[in-house]
Amino acid sequence: MRITLTRPDDWHLHLRDGDMLKGILPETTRDFGRAIIMPNLVPPVVTSFDALQYRARIIDLLPEGDDFLPLMTLYLTEGTDPEDVAMAAKTRTISAVKLYPAGATTNSDSGVKDIDNVMPVLEKMAEIGLPLCVHGEVTDPSVDIFDREAAFIEHVLMPLRTRLPELKIIMEHVTTKDGVDYVNSAANTAATLTTHHLIINRNHLLVGGIKPHYYCLPIAKRETHRLALVQAATSGNPKFFLGTDSAPHTDPNKESACGCAGVFSATNTMPCLAHVFEDAGALDKLEAFTSLNGPAFYGLPPNTAKITLTQQDTPVVFPAKIETGDGPVTLFNPDFPLFWRVS
Ligand code: NCD
Ligand code: ZN
Repeated sequence: MRITLTRPDDWHLHLRDGDMLKGILPETTRDFGRAIIMPNLVPPVVTSFDALQYRARIIDLLPEGDDFLPLMTLYLTEGTDPEDVAMAAKTRTISAVKLYPAGATTNSDSGVKDIDNVMPVLEKMAEIGLPLCVHGEVTDPSVDIFDREAAFIEHVLMPLRTRLPELKIIMEHVTTKDGVDYVNSAANTAATLTTHHLIINRNHLLVGGIKPHYYCLPIAKRETHRLALVQAATSGNPKFFLGTDSAPHTDPNKESACGCAGVFSATNTMPCLAHVFEDAGALDKLEAFTSLNGPAFYGLPPNTAKITLTQQDTPVVFPAKIETGDGPVTLFNPDFPLFWRVS
């Protein structure tokens, strides 16, 4: 069996920098036309100048003739200048701004402590139609890690929605039924869903021994939530689209007494998704999820190029690790054989 799709995009990707960037960039450009590049470098991508420089470093590493387009984002801080954001949007240097609550995830220390302090930036974004990508977890130490997304919706997102009804918001990597229900109910709001959250629940992470390569933030939830995510992804609903959140960390940094959060799935995302959508009897909705809904929400045309997914009789073999100049990065293991490949 084969299916042809508009070339997909990844609406949430971590490319890192330096040797890691060099090592993992081909894993995305092989299958994807564009990606929203997350700004949580050390130090983060905060100004339009930082974004221009980071984009140049990415483009420098693309092979001759590769037309992959990195869509840059700025890391919102309490010192972000609304005019710099507006200028970067106008010149198409950036496609979105990312809100990390301070301390919520990898390299989020410079994030936002109090949303009141960034209201002038958010008001400007609402005015010019620039989307806000949100890491939707509260960081209050008294809130259980499995409840942090639901608490964020209630305490941060709903009040923000009321204050700025026009602001385009993308709830990144939604992991709960609460998140799906909220996105469905709110105007000007969409969500990305990751490959791994459509496949693993918290048992995969914790039963039979702790699996550091399934540890990411937001953390995988119980099975009822995973089923709600699959339903949303495979429904064709334009509010939901792919953001892999592919987030490489080297094996020593993952396989540690205090391991980093992040799942690396760029290499086998399309075969994994074809499997999930086929299982749900929804292969006809895969293109909307990977290639159409994202550009529509961002106000961009879909890619003109196509890709073909072919199903073979024997499992497709992917490398267990990608070797980078920075060290090995373990690839997401869906824990079932993959029969689809991109050709
Ligand atoms: C991401 C990373 O490693 O940069 N980690 C993760 O677990 N998803 C950060 C993020 O998107 O939260
Ligand atoms: Zn991320």
